[in-house]
Amino acid sequence: MEVCIAGTGSYVPEKILTNEELATLVDTSDEWIVTRTGIKERRIAAEGEYTSHMAAKAAERALEQAGIAAEDIELIIVATITPDTFTPATACYVQQMLGAKRAVAFDISAACSGFLYAMKLSKRMISDGAFKNALIIGAEKLSAFVNWEDRGTCVLFGDGAGAAVLRRAEPGEGSILATEMGTDGNLTHLLNIPGGGSACPITPENAGKHLASLAMLGKEVFKHAVIRMKEAAEKVIERSGLQPEQIACVIPHQANLRIIDAIADRLAVPNERVFVNLHKYGNTSAAAVAIALDEANRSGAFKRGDHIVLVVFGAGLTWAAAAVRW
Ligand code: ACO
Repeated sequence: MEVCIAGTGSYVPEKILTNEELATLVDTSDEWIVTRTGIKERRIAAEGEYTSHMAAKAAERALEQAGIAAEDIELIIVATITPDTFTPATACYVQQMLGAKRAVAFDISAACSGFLYAMKLSKRMISDGAFKNALIIGAEKLSAFVNWEDRGTCVLFGDGAGAAVLRRAEPGEGSILATEMGTDGNLTHLLNIPGGGSACPITPENAGKHLASLAMLGKEVFKHAVIRMKEAAEKVIERSGLQPEQIACVIPHQANLRIIDAIADRLAVPNERVFVNLHKYGNTSAAAVAIALDEANRSGAFKRGDHIVLVVFGAGLTWAAAAVRW
């Protein structure tokens, strides 16, 4: 059974934090951030605005575009590393906010790769007949898990959410043609939030040490990102029988413009067919590729019948790709 993407949506908070403003908080500059990453500004969630709120807003837009009512959604998967609470899952809050009473709802944690992990999972759950449709969401409030005194990480991340509605495809409609996922648990130390879990609870003694903040060995992550994203994209391109010139749009994880350029180069896809919005939002982890998909979709970067490739990479290390006929 073919599964199509029937609608996309996204939401970013109103508050913009520019590189210039960040340079008043830590020893950095617009020039350093733009040259090394391509990021100009990022969005920061308001106080009292949680991951679930952003997720629900993105979801409403995706449902509207898909023409499916919330009460008809059967499955909700939220990909996040910044849940509202450890338990219940953020997807449960989203189900309540949307009024999606019939939906089974749960979260997955695969960092920046989470949205495409959710895509593969829900595609399978629809095509094996268990569900008619699914709402998949990548949503993050990374501003709550960033050490605002660490210039090496705080300049990179932002908040936001993106969503897509998947359903059984009618003949002649689009289709998710191929998916790929991978994990290398030997490299957990390259990128993590070390504290706040059962391995290292936050206590009064360690509370000031920023252990519940993102920590990253950037150069190492960069190297693996380029290799793994290229391999994953090549696999889904090959499996769906596409040539690079048949790809209307590549939508990569939005972490660093230099990583994106390196991948476009290795895949032999011209830069104008690679969607980039990280200058506006920074790295929003699981939300990044979902927001980019929605913006690319709504801006006409591809049209019905076109082939697109999504490719992501994140903590774990994890990576994933999908080839889609729109
Ligand atoms: N402003 C000014 N200087 C800085 C800043 C800053 N914000 N941050 C670091 N520096 C300094 C460092 O201290 C270092 O100084 P030194 O040479 O005197 O020691 C110098 O700049 C170079 O630092 P590097 O870390 O080596 O810089 P690099 O060129 O590697 O760029 C970056 C860092 C942007 C983080 C890059 O490595 C990168 O993008 N890596 C990939 C990150 C990624 O893709 N993550 C994806 C997954 S995210 C997820 O899963 C949540």
